[in-house]
Amino acid sequence: MDEQRLRAALKTTVAGLHYFESIGSTNDLALQLAAQGAADGTLVVADQQTMGRGRLERRWVTAPGAALAFSLALRPTPAEQQALALFAPLCGLAVSRALEALGLQPQIKWPNDVLLERRKTCGILVEAQWQGARLQGLVAGIGVNVAPSSVPPAEELRFPATCIETVLGRPVDRVELLSSILRYLYEERARLGSPEFFSAWESRLAFRGEWVNVQQPGQELKGRVLGISPTGSLRLASPDGTPFEVEAGDLSLRPVG
Ligand code: BTN
Repeated sequence: MDEQRLRAALKTTVAGLHYFESIGSTNDLALQLAAQGAADGTLVVADQQTMGRGRLERRWVTAPGAALAFSLALRPTPAEQQALALFAPLCGLAVSRALEALGLQPQIKWPNDVLLERRKTCGILVEAQWQGARLQGLVAGIGVNVAPSSVPPAEELRFPATCIETVLGRPVDRVELLSSILRYLYEERARLGSPEFFSAWESRLAFRGEWVNVQQPGQELKGRVLGISPTGSLRLASPDGTPFEVEAGDLSLRPVG
């Protein structure tokens, strides 16, 4: 990635920019910076990650020249601290809106993976940095598959994946895409937790009306996806029609069949 172009494009958007051709994990550095009191909006970007981390202790591969891998250190306000679980869907919404601006029709696999043509295109890992009971900062880590070489081989995947360029059919400028995602992220953050925020999230919800398996540690539930509750839980109907909700947590969701 061209660092000078990146700096110029993000000059007015971020509080500080740390760019690396290669790094272990942008989230690891952003968490360290948060612990040192980094300003809200401090961004860590890498062209390649050698120890990228995904949810549930999984690995996240970022091949050079092909993807976006970045982590934004935030200092949530007291009001935002009441809604920390909404920061991951906030990122999903920001990425979705940036993809829509390219002419794509992304969907959000609850709670936050971004899909194109029902395949995962973006993963999000939000982590908090605590000092005792005090929140020092939140790190929003976002990985986007842009070019075909960013998509891991099928045998390494738990869920089918694709990339933006394959679906769009043309090259995508990663600097412009990153800048667009950040703009939408700040825009959505301003309405975090509002009815408009939930309806923007719900209107992009993947598998709505479809049967899914919800895998939680120790149990698997089957349900038909109804929508998102006013607190951000996934609303489903069980096979006998009884509505139930699942809260975000250590869970993965797959369409049945
Ligand atoms: C997932 O889908 O499991 C989440 C993947 C999150 C990957 C991003 S890439 C930038 C940031 N740095 C990391 O080590 N992980 C996140």
